[in-house]
This record gives sequence, C-alpha cells and structure tokens, in this order.
Amino acid sequence: MNLIISILDSSYIDALFQLDNEANTTPWSKLNYQDSFNDPNHTVSGLFANDQLIGFCVISKIIDEAEVLQIVIAKSSQNNGYGNYLLGNLCQQLELDGIQQIFLEVLASNANAIHLYSKLQFNEISIRKNYYTINGNKFDAILMARTNIINHQQ
Ligand SMILES: CC(C)(COP(=O)(O)OP(=O)(O)OC[C@H]1O[C@@H](n2cnc3c(N)ncnc32)[C@H](O)[C@@H]1OP(=O)(O)O)[C@@H](O)C(=O)NCCC(=O)NCCS
Repeated sequence: MNLIISILDSSYIDALFQLDNEANTTPWSKLNYQDSFNDPNHTVSGLFANDQLIGFCVISKIIDEAEVLQIVIAKSSQNNGYGNYLLGNLCQQLELDGIQQIFLEVLASNANAIHLYSKLQFNEISIRKNYYTINGNKFDAILMARTNIINHQQ
C-alpha cells in the first residue's frame, strides 16, 4: 500500500464533505471547510492510499500551539491504522517545527478516537459538560493535549 500525506486545496471540499458525512456523527458543513481553506492558520492534509483519498485532518496553528479541528478516515477504511499513521505523522511534523502543545476535543463516547489519541500520547486535561448537541441531545466533550515529545528541550 502506497500511503501519501499531502496538503489539500479547496477543490477537495466535495470529497471531504462526502467522507465526513459517511463517517462522522458531527460532520462539518461545506462552509466550515471553505472557512478552513480561507484561514491562513489552518492546514487541511489528505491521506492517499494508492492515489485514493481515504482520510483527512484539519489543524490550526497559532505561534507554538496547534489544535486538531477535524480528523476523518473513510468508514470502509477504519481500524486499519490509517488514523494513527495520519495523525502520528502530522503531530511529529508539527513538533519538529517547534509546536509545543497540540489540543483536541472529542465526544466522550467516541471510544475508538479516544483510544487512538491516547496511543498517540494525548492526555485528558478536562471534560466539557454538555458541550456537543446532536439531534437535540447534549453530550460531554473531553479536551485532550499532547506535549511536544520530540524536541521538548527547545
Ligand atoms: C477516529 C478515526 C479518525 C480513527 O481512524 P482509524 O483509521 O479507524 O484509526 P486507527 O485504525 O489508527 O486506530 C483506531 C484504534 O481504535 C481501536 N478501536 C476501535 N473501536 C474501538 C472501541 N469501540 N473502543 C476502543 N478502541 C477501539 C482500534 O482497535 C484501533 O486501536 P489499535 O490500533 O490499538 O488496535 C475514525 O474512526 C473516524 O474517522 N471516525 C469518524 C470521525 C471522528 O469521529 N473523528 C474524530 C473526531 S474528534
């Protein structure tokens, strides 16, 4: 399997929207994606397997902190280590570039995402009660952070 991570542009909005809607309980709108492509602090990275887009991740970066705003792996490709490959590589690159902390928020019931983040050395730092509203119901969010594990001395 030939895996490539590359930076995407707004010509991928329809593809991202489709992957997100198939995989995610809290998908973004096309406008959310357009906003990210318009924001110079955001980077949208795609994961290609044999030239096919199978996942993506949106990251915002400000000074020496970053936030994972969205990560999706195509439903049919999940649980094969692709999320780990994509996010692991992006975190490593961010930290090589001097980012000291990477944050993310996750639905408290999203067990596989939480498992993945813990494996990538994200630690829970707080719980945001009733943070998400899905179909009129409230759900807690867990805030997680990873402290630079590559060039911690900088
Ligand atoms: C979260 C997501 C990106 C993970 O991608 P992925 O390619 O499936 O991730 P990986 O295969 O690298 O890792 C998933 C891990 O969760 C584990 N897992 C799967 N279901 C699980 C469950 N119910 N409870 C605990 N762990 C679980 C897998 O075994 C695997 O761990 P392992 O590598 O130690 O065996 C993907 O599931 C996804 O796109 N979900 C929908 C969108 C979403 O929820 N995004 C996160 C928003 S915060």
